[in-house]
Amino acid sequence: MKQLPTTQSRKTLEKIQSYQPGMPIWEMKKRYGLSHIIKLASNENPLGPSPKIIRAILGALPELHRYPDTHTTTLKEHLADQLEVTPEHLLVTNGGDELIKLISETYLETEDEIVVPSPTFGEYEFGAHLMGAVIKTVPLEADYAFHVSAILAAITNRTKLVYLCSPNNPTGTYLSRQDLTALLNQLPDGVLVVLDAAYSHYATADDYTTGIEFVRQGYPVLVLQTFSKIYALAGIRVGFGVAHPSVIQKILKVKEPFNVNSLAQTAAITALGDVEHFEKALTENTKGRKQLYDAFDEMNIPYTVSMSNFILAKFGPNAGKIYQELLERGIILRYGDTWGLPEHIRISVGTLEENQILIQNIRELLIIVGK
Ligand SMILES: Cc1ncc(COP(=O)(O)O)c(C=O)c1O
Repeated sequence: MKQLPTTQSRKTLEKIQSYQPGMPIWEMKKRYGLSHIIKLASNENPLGPSPKIIRAILGALPELHRYPDTHTTTLKEHLADQLEVTPEHLLVTNGGDELIKLISETYLETEDEIVVPSPTFGEYEFGAHLMGAVIKTVPLEADYAFHVSAILAAITNRTKLVYLCSPNNPTGTYLSRQDLTALLNQLPDGVLVVLDAAYSHYATADDYTTGIEFVRQGYPVLVLQTFSKIYALAGIRVGFGVAHPSVIQKILKVKEPFNVNSLAQTAAITALGDVEHFEKALTENTKGRKQLYDAFDEMNIPYTVSMSNFILAKFGPNAGKIYQELLERGIILRYGDTWGLPEHIRISVGTLEENQILIQNIRELLIIVGK
C-alpha cells in the first residue's frame, strides 16, 4: 500500500492506549478451535435481555427510518419518576462511556486535573488524556477501601473533577454514605464529584449510596448509571447521568443530537418496567457470588467481598498462567495486570452452571499449575 504523508495528530493522543476489550467470543472460537465459550470478562448480565425487551425492540423496527428523539423525553420521564428527580436532572447517553467523554469535554482544559482513586475503571483517564488534562491517582487502602482524606489532599486549585467509582471496578468495594458526606462537606468550590454507580443495583450494604440523594440536596455531584449491567443491555448502549440541571445544561452543549438510537431508547424504557427480570438478575447474582465465594474459601483463594457482579480474586504468582490456561479452555476472565494487579483475576459472576464449570477448571489448574 502507498505510504501517506504524515498528518500530525494531537500531541495528547500519544498518552492514550487504545481500549483493550476482553477477547470476543467469535475470536476465541477461531483462535483456540473451541465450540463453546464462557465469557466472564466484562461484567455483563449472564441472563441476557428479557423476552419483553426483545419484543419491544422488534416492535420499534418499522420506525427505523425516523431519527430518534434527541431529548430522550419518554425515557427521562420514566427515569425521573423512578429516581425521584426531575427530567431536567437527567442526561441520557450512548452508554456510560459516552457520558465520561462528554463530562471531560465539558470541564477539562489542558493542564486541568482530575483526581482518581486507583485501581479503578480506565475510562476516566481516557477522558482526561483526550483533553490534555493531568491525572492525579490516589491509591485505595490495603483492603481497597476509599481513602477520603488522601482524596481530599490530592485536590489542588487545578482540580475540576473527582471520580469515585462505587461499587468500584475492579475491586467491588464501595464508598459509604458517611465517607461521601465527609468528602462532599470538605470539597473545595469549583470541583465536581462524578460518582460512577454503574453497579449500584447489586450493592446491598445499608450504608451504600448511589449518590442521587446528594444530587437532590444540591451537592456538586454527578451520578453515572448504565443499562449495560443489571438491565442486560450492554450491546445497545444506554447510560445516563443525574446532576443539578445547571450541570446537565453545560454537558448538553457537547452532546451529539442523536446520541441514543431509537431501539436503545425503547429497550431502556421497557427494561425499567420489567421488574421481574431485574429481580431475577439480582437473585441469580447473589446466588452466583455466594457459589464462587464458597469455592474460593474451599480452595484457599483470597478474594475481596464484592458489592457488585464481579469478584477480584488473588491467585498468586501463577495468576497469569491460570488466566491463560482458562482462556485456552474457553473461559474468558479479566487478568489483573491491566490494573497493576498481576496476581489477581477479576471474575464476572455467570450463571450457576457457568460458575460451576469455572470452579471445576480452576480446581484442575491449581493441581497442574499450582498457585
Ligand atoms: C465502572 C464502570 N462505569 C461505567 C461503565 C460504562 O458502561 P457502559 O458504557 O456500557 O454504559 C462500565 C462498564 O464496564 C464500568 O465498569
